[in-house]
Amino acid sequence: LKQEALEQIQQAASLKELNDLRIAFLGKKGSIQALMKEMKNLPKEEKPAFGAMINTLKQEVAEALEQQKSNLEELEMQKQIESEKIDITLPGRQFELGNKHPLITVLEELEDLFIGLGYQVIEGSDIVNDEYCFERANIPKDHPARAMQDSLYIDPEWLLRTHTTALQMKVLEENAPKLPIKVVCPGKVYRKDDDDATHSHQFMQMEGLVIAEKVTLADLKGTLEFMAKKLFGQDRQIRFRPSYFPFTEPSVEVDVSCHICGGKGCPTCKGTGWIEILGAGEVHPNVLKMAGYDPEVCSGFAFGVGIERVAMLKYGIDDIRHFYTNDLRFNKQFKRYE
Ligand code: PHE
Repeated sequence: LKQEALEQIQQAASLKELNDLRIAFLGKKGSIQALMKEMKNLPKEEKPAFGAMINTLKQEVAEALEQQKSNLEELEMQKQIESEKIDITLPGRQFELGNKHPLITVLEELEDLFIGLGYQVIEGSDIVNDEYCFERANIPKDHPARAMQDSLYIDPEWLLRTHTTALQMKVLEENAPKLPIKVVCPGKVYRKDDDDATHSHQFMQMEGLVIAEKVTLADLKGTLEFMAKKLFGQDRQIRFRPSYFPFTEPSVEVDVSCHICGGKGCPTCKGTGWIEILGAGEVHPNVLKMAGYDPEVCSGFAFGVGIERVAMLKYGIDDIRHFYTNDLRFNKQFKRYE
């Protein structure tokens, strides 16, 4: 019986099986109990030895049960650990990260650059009134320069701003006569333009404005040269060409040396070696006066840079419409992980 019991116990494969065996051997109706009942049939002198034997048997079976129980529990634990194991050497699951739109990337780069120079970034409403968009910019109602910017009116007084210069005029008025002012004003602008590869009825500009006691064209040139080199590379040059804007005097158009031919002349720069990037100038005395500044006391420069234009030059994009059509094949080319 002992042999049988120990064997069966060792072979028990589950705790349930083990429990059944415990009942079968040690239970009230178990086989060891049955053996006990035999005792009364034995001669008196054999009884103590028999009793002792059964007790030992009971003990041995109980110990075997206990031993197997802990074996099984151990096994169970192993299995659980096995099934819950994480393989940290497996490659992670890839999930797709969105990416920044190239216009946002360029805008942020410009903002960072000017913040680094001590400028403040100021934003304003896309809807402005005639006063700030034109009058304060030295473009009265009958001024021919109004035709330079075909506009989208909401009513006779209010329109979608045609340039961020409208915001510049607000900033000037709000700060006058405080000195100095050093701000950049990024934002969307709108014009009644037919869309083609280089025109869009909506685009982005960033206005720069500095007003202080003595601000000259040389300061403007230094600032824009720094910007061009940061944006396009240290080997790039800039040049000023005389131009006209009603709100600046003198006014300039700013070219950057062509990145394709390095200034020798090629189809990209139409053989000139230069590519126009922005308009700028010394803030017109009338503009300063209207805002509440005394042009005898201070002067300043302003510039307005087209964000799309910069992005197109920087990334070699040949059609402005790519920025707005949200074609993922285009957008995904500007994926950067930061
Ligand atoms: N507002 C001008 C434009 O939209 C750009 C500009 C800004 C020119 C500031 C000079 C000074 O074309």
